[in-house]
Amino acid sequence: MWTGVYMYKPYRMLVRICVTFSRQQWCREPPRWRGVCQQMRFARNFGTGDKEHNENEGERDNPESQLSGEKPSSQGLVFGKLGSRRRHLSPLERISQLLPQESLSQEVWELRRGRAEDQRPLGSMESSQEMTDTAGMGPEGSHENGRQRPDLQPCQESAEEVNFCDREEKMEEWQVGDGGDSSPAIFGEPPLGLGELVLAEYRGKGWLEFRKMFQLQEKGHLQSTWGSVAHSTIVGSRSGSLLQLSSGSPILVRRPSLEEYVLLMKRAPAIAYPKDSTAMLMMMDVSEGDSVLESGSGSGAMTLFLSRAVGSRGCVTSVERREDHHQRALRNYQRWRKAWKLRRGEEWPDNVRFHVAELQGAGALLSGLRFNSAVLDMLSPQVALPAVFPYLNDGAVCAVYLVNLTQVIDLLEGVRVSGLPLQCERIIEVQHRDWLVAPAVMKDGTAAARVAPFSGTGDEEEEQSHAEGKEEEDFSCDDDVPFGTVTYMVRPHHQQTAHTAFLVKLRKIKAKNS
Ligand SMILES: C[S@@+](CC[C@H](N)C(=O)[O-])C[C@H]1O[C@@H](n2cnc3c(N)ncnc32)[C@H](O)[C@@H]1O
Repeated sequence: MWTGVYMYKPYRMLVRICVTFSRQQWCREPPRWRGVCQQMRFARNFGTGDKEHNENEGERDNPESQLSGEKPSSQGLVFGKLGSRRRHLSPLERISQLLPQESLSQEVWELRRGRAEDQRPLGSMESSQEMTDTAGMGPEGSHENGRQRPDLQPCQESAEEVNFCDREEKMEEWQVGDGGDSSPAIFGEPPLGLGELVLAEYRGKGWLEFRKMFQLQEKGHLQSTWGSVAHSTIVGSRSGSLLQLSSGSPILVRRPSLEEYVLLMKRAPAIAYPKDSTAMLMMMDVSEGDSVLESGSGSGAMTLFLSRAVGSRGCVTSVERREDHHQRALRNYQRWRKAWKLRRGEEWPDNVRFHVAELQGAGALLSGLRFNSAVLDMLSPQVALPAVFPYLNDGAVCAVYLVNLTQVIDLLEGVRVSGLPLQCERIIEVQHRDWLVAPAVMKDGTAAARVAPFSGTGDEEEEQSHAEGKEEEDFSCDDDVPFGTVTYMVRPHHQQTAHTAFLVKLRKIKAKNS
């Protein structure tokens, strides 16, 4: 038992051993607390905000993997040695194949190694580690053969190796999965290549200072206040690599998620924010194979989420009255599809039909179509409702995106006056609250140690050894800072996404006599 910075010696030694080992696993340099602090700041910004966009829902490093850093347990091997025949994959194994290689935990790597050993002929088990290493995928593999972690150093594969033209052939090499009947082949993601969309991020004082999305070009340079880096340096790195800017500052390069893409792509009108788009998908219960109507296309942000949700068997009909907005939506959609092809080697579904038309007068365009759901993000949607209504399936949901509450009232009044059998089931506002959770760092760069509360009634012996401990070690700034002895700042982030929209859920009801 211990409070604050105090604990019994045996515990303290044990913790110190664990922490030291953890640092040996993860740090390139001999460990110094300041360095660890920096790493933790990178890993622990659970809720930081992008200065420019007030939105930072990017992929994060797994803080637990940074902190734990345990030696892989031998239990993992037991999982793998179930027999020499090919067996079904567990849910954990299946999921691990979908994740970026760098993010897999030690346990998953053990599991995989176990599988590799399973499938080797008997008597050749001793070289199983070699197999893992040559695959060059696992953090422990890199550690054991003296290589550094891929996310701390640019991948050594050269740009020539990842030639733009032979990329499709290369895809096969990055394919993972056992290829057995029970597990369809899943594409792993190749290193970053020319023509791909990349997101670069710099995290300085505990939050995101810089974020830029760009296309990798042969002679391009990424410029920032913190220095520059040539695109050719980025080509060949794994997504999620920390590279160095000319100033020495670290910059994270990775592929953008769809959410990040729509936030950073070029806009014509304002977009439906991803947090609202995904809530509307849920409202409409959009499923693979659905046929969905959208208006207006705007910049194409909502369109992309709809396209992903309906998949290759579904279809999105997107109607926009302005030619320039229509063109922007189309370009954004095609750009994402192209990036996807380079990233995965497979086509993003070509499932959106873009039309330039006023929705109220789009009868000819819609005739013969039926929709499982509709989403309206446009001015005065109540005016367009009578035109949309006949093409909705009974029970279908029409989700409406409105910025002001007065518009919500106009919509409901429009429904009431038109007499359309539409039932308003919900009106919601989606709020995300970003939090800042990171080690508190003092002005001189050292970590702030926790202070044990003063206890006048406590055991004297305990207090005595507590005092001795303090003389021996001052945890505030040395290397051996045991787990749990550092103060964290834990508060809502000072930059929050403000109000974006009200989402109204209207359901088509089948009238009694119709
Ligand atoms: C806010 S934007 C939509 C943004 C889009 N949801 C996105 O996520 O990028 C509204 C769009 O609706 C279009 N619009 C407005 N009234 C329309 C109508 N009656 N028929 C078709 N489009 C319309 C506008 O031209 C504008 O491009």
